[in-house]
Amino acid sequence: MEEIRGSDFASPETMRDFISFYKRLSGQQEPIYPIDDFFGMGKAWVAFRHDDVVQILKDPRFLKNMRSLAPQQNEQKSFESNDSVSQIIEWLNNMPNMLTVDPPDHTRLRRLASKAFTPRMVEELRPRIQQIADELLDAVMEKGEMDLIADFAYPLPIIVISEMLGIPTADRNLFREWTHTLGNAALMPGREAEVAATFEEFTRYIKSMLADKRKHPGNDVTSKLVEAYDEGDKLNENELLSTIWLLITAGHETTVNLIGNGVLALLNHPDQLRLLQSDPSIIPTAVEELLRYVGPVIITSRVAGEDITMHGQEIRKGDMIVISLGGANLDPNKFANPEALDITREENEHLAFGKGIHLCLGAPLARLEAQIAFATLLGRLPDLHLAIEPEQLNYHLTTLRSLVSLPVKF
Ligand code: HEM
Repeated sequence: MEEIRGSDFASPETMRDFISFYKRLSGQQEPIYPIDDFFGMGKAWVAFRHDDVVQILKDPRFLKNMRSLAPQQNEQKSFESNDSVSQIIEWLNNMPNMLTVDPPDHTRLRRLASKAFTPRMVEELRPRIQQIADELLDAVMEKGEMDLIADFAYPLPIIVISEMLGIPTADRNLFREWTHTLGNAALMPGREAEVAATFEEFTRYIKSMLADKRKHPGNDVTSKLVEAYDEGDKLNENELLSTIWLLITAGHETTVNLIGNGVLALLNHPDQLRLLQSDPSIIPTAVEELLRYVGPVIITSRVAGEDITMHGQEIRKGDMIVISLGGANLDPNKFANPEALDITREENEHLAFGKGIHLCLGAPLARLEAQIAFATLLGRLPDLHLAIEPEQLNYHLTTLRSLVSLPVKF
């Protein structure tokens, strides 16, 4: 069986045919599989079985915060010099937000943001999300064609998260390049100057936005976080900046891809598309299946907080674990007929939103956005089909499953 390399996790071939990649991964002899280098971060272990992934995500010995393990972790880092991009990547990876820290900091930071993302709060956004979806389609209806990513899947969640955070509508396009460049900084050797400039622009913008919210607070999540910061010991300035960065990035790089990948999967499975068109009441079940089958976040990571033995492998304190959520979602020991897209699947304990204390905070929002997006698309565009050959589709070079564009006609 062909060896797996770190770069395989972001390659267009993997994104194009994830099932083949998963077969290579699960065909390895070791269920906890060692790889030599993961994007310059050194040696790592890969977990891809559903039960292993759940176990790791729920085990408090596997940490998010690499800094807590210094100096071992620092020795492992292959960030050579003091070059600014290495520092930026390191900073981005270690920014103190809920996704990069462990309890008790995690509990504190998650609690502060969670009030905005309860299912009830999210449900209240329904009419506005529907209005945005309709307006986006109104703008392209007459043309009979669109790039489903640029014209629909991307703006929908961006408008929603921008409004939640109180980011001026006119500025939201700035964030696309920023989040893409910074989110993939580790994968962009040779583009150091661009990464550094983007980072500076981004932090300058957020700092001035925070100052503005302090002077003119609104009913948005950013104003609430600024208020918590001003009240004293609830979060520090770095945590405030970093939490806003996390919410913006999570809102930019995820739901867009669920909608894009989901539409493509349905177009590739006309029987499932027809089934959904004939019975829109199954949209919530279909969204869960699309999350399992083509969910955008296919890997996450942890670091071992102590020496741990799994499946006979000796994972050392400080070792990195690459967790294949996409792989676990195809595990035949967990899912009946996992390679089939079945939008009526009832037993579907997928891990597209992770598991344990870091379970996606935005899951209720992502689900609602996706349900409205699919209902609106299928209801208004009954003749939706691809405008190019499937082989012409391209994916971004990132560890997210993320289409560059999806030209469709209707
Ligand atoms: C389809 C869309 C989405 C997917 C597939 C997704 C996936 C994930 C995954 C897998 C994690 C856990 C990562 C880990 O354990 O290492 C996560 C965490 C998180 N997600 Fe999402 N996400 C989506 C949408 C969103 C949205 C729209 C938001 C909010 C704007 C959001 C906010 C967050 C936050 C704040 C965390 C960190 C939670 C914590 O550390 O306690 N996500 N997401």
